[in-house]
Amino acid sequence: MMAREGVKLGLVGLGTVGSGVVQLLDRQREAFARKIGAPLQLVHVASRSIDIKPHPPLPGVRLSVDPWSVVQDAEVDIVLELIGGTDPARSLVLEAMARGKAVVTANKALLALHGDEVFAAAEAHGVRLGFEASVAGGIPIIRTLREGFVADRNKALFGIVNGTCNYILATMSEDGAEFAPVLHRAQELGLAEADPRMDVDGIDAAQKLTLLIMLAFGVRVPVEAVYTEGIRQLDQIDITFAREFGYAIKLLAIAKEESGVLEARVHPTMIPQDSLLAGVGGAYNAIFTQGEALGSSLQFGQGAGSLPTAAAVLSDVVESARAQTKQQQPRPPLGCAWAELKPAAVRSMDELVGEYYLRFMAVDRPGVLTQISGILGDQDISIASVIQRGRSDGDNTVPLVMRTHAATERNLKTAMTLVDQLPIVQGKSVYVRIEESLG
Ligand code: HSE
Repeated sequence: MMAREGVKLGLVGLGTVGSGVVQLLDRQREAFARKIGAPLQLVHVASRSIDIKPHPPLPGVRLSVDPWSVVQDAEVDIVLELIGGTDPARSLVLEAMARGKAVVTANKALLALHGDEVFAAAEAHGVRLGFEASVAGGIPIIRTLREGFVADRNKALFGIVNGTCNYILATMSEDGAEFAPVLHRAQELGLAEADPRMDVDGIDAAQKLTLLIMLAFGVRVPVEAVYTEGIRQLDQIDITFAREFGYAIKLLAIAKEESGVLEARVHPTMIPQDSLLAGVGGAYNAIFTQGEALGSSLQFGQGAGSLPTAAAVLSDVVESARAQTKQQQPRPPLGCAWAELKPAAVRSMDELVGEYYLRFMAVDRPGVLTQISGILGDQDISIASVIQRGRSDGDNTVPLVMRTHAATERNLKTAMTLVDQLPIVQGKSVYVRIEESLG
């Protein structure tokens, strides 16, 4: 087929990642030809703003504002979908595959929300679907889980998979800054999604977790079944108190399997300050896994950004191009057939047992601690330590912070609701789960 004259690429989306792809294709041109045995040729690019925004030089490339022109271009062998979002990305990807084209995408939302259609369509049409760039940018976590860890049985996975949240929490910790201005900086740095609620409310991390779960545990979890809590409720004082207790706060995507039941959750988590994940700073990502045979393993690197994500996109392109030039049949995108992935039994959050950090804003009066600890005691929650700092003048509140021994989430939530009804407590109290197993 096209081996002598090259493998033809059609690119949809010329934003941060698309521009990085163009740059790397040029920079690595000879290496790609050597590694594939045929050159990679970008033949068609579509971008909504190609007419108005400056873009990298694209000599000899057909340019369009219409993404369908790329998908329908008979010359294109591999479509790179880099526009993000679910619509029209879903229709474009399905159409490209129906036309027998391989697809490479960085689109975690598409795969998390429409994976049933998209993965099944790749198998049905016998085409390759690469999605290495959809989780943790430049870290080859998809291949690592699908190929590197294929012989093992994963027991647990803890991921820092949202660079924006990690940047915000790390900067709040290092600079003593508050949430809002640091989010603004993350947006300026181009880390955040177009709608930053996807980042700070944990949705982006939950979408990525569903993909990691399929590869790591061989089961399916709809994104709605992932308990998802973001980082907005955290104040600088929580970061400071966490440090006093010996912890860092990270937004973790967590999956654990025990006796055939899976925990799948995304939430801020206090982890020991000397743990490997606590050292993951800035916008970096990391995925820590615990396997039966391999034991602990950590994958670390840049989870976002133009060139790191473009490198992941092009790793899929090279894999696809190599297979095309050798006329190899594609393997299923998830390593096994979509139909082999059974729906997971997901543990209810109420059944979770763990230790907690609690923060109440309470009026500084005698008897306050007794009232709060009484409610916690009634719910079988035992307090491991308490910190109260500063004295207020008059009726102002002061932070009252506690660390609990192991308790059930059901009891904890009940207690927090009751405490928040006390007249001596103001605002909504904060609780953060503690994960000691990473220490
Ligand atoms: N907004 C995402 C993040 C980009 O901050 O991680 C990479 O998926």
